[in-house]
Amino acid sequence: MKQRVTKAIFPVAGLGTRFLPATKSIPKEILCLVDKPLIQYAIDEAREAGIEEFIFVTSRGKGALEDYFDGAPQLEQSLKAKGKDDLLDVLMKSTMDSGEIAYVRQREALGLGHAVWCARRLIADEPFAVILTDDVIEAEQPVLKQMVEAHEQTGGNMVAAMEVAPSKASAYGLLDIKEDMGSLVSVKGMVEKPKPEDAPSNLAVIGRYILTPQILKNLETQERGAGGEIQLTDAIAKEITTSDNVYGFRFQGTRYDCGSKAGFLQATVAFGLARGDLCDEFRDFLIETLECRRAAQ
Ligand code: G1P
Repeated sequence: MKQRVTKAIFPVAGLGTRFLPATKSIPKEILCLVDKPLIQYAIDEAREAGIEEFIFVTSRGKGALEDYFDGAPQLEQSLKAKGKDDLLDVLMKSTMDSGEIAYVRQREALGLGHAVWCARRLIADEPFAVILTDDVIEAEQPVLKQMVEAHEQTGGNMVAAMEVAPSKASAYGLLDIKEDMGSLVSVKGMVEKPKPEDAPSNLAVIGRYILTPQILKNLETQERGAGGEIQLTDAIAKEITTSDNVYGFRFQGTRYDCGSKAGFLQATVAFGLARGDLCDEFRDFLIETLECRRAAQ
């Protein structure tokens, strides 16, 4: 019988320098789309996919993340006393049960592969998920859930995948496709941030993975790759030569690159417009602003 995927690793050790000065005192993962931190979108998605244990790979200065998931007794009491049940519900959804969440530290910023490897002692002989909080995906069915279902058929290693503009492909891990089966592709190669002339395709890895524990073993001896960092892509690529069990999964949904300012703003607009309580006012404001700008040009 296939093992269920019940653990997810969230690499959240990055410095978030692209969002300075905000990230001088706030972890990037706590920046909000409307009123919900990026990390909460990732946790909600993981929970809906059946994840029960949440492993955070953190670093110095990320204490606010730990506090975020803690109980907030004073706030709870005050909301209860005032009968603000809606807000109490929102608050409780961001509170993790004791033991549900674990933190490990990445001592040095040696790359995504290294960050994932830091969680190795918390993963047994079982498949596990990795979620990159920068990639926020709006989808009817949460993307990790789509992947867990596809993974039940394939087993092995699976990465979320999406066609990106060829001009931007070099910013991603890219897949060399062996067989294209539609939403599923089998993969014969994977390269992290290649030069444009070396790109095997424009089918890019997006930040959702379901991996075998062998990847953690590969990372043990993984040499530095693109950008001088230990790359997760390289450790997965190693599996293609030895086990031939790597798949790309073209998900249903819209992905926002919230690691970039433009992507973050796009997501803010999309999530603002999707909110029933805000959309009318927000849409009118956007239309008016655009019209004013056009008239002034
Ligand atoms: C990471 C991965 C890369 C992937 C990307 C998706 O890169 O290393 O393979 O395509 O996430 O967002 P980063 O954006 O952290 O440089």
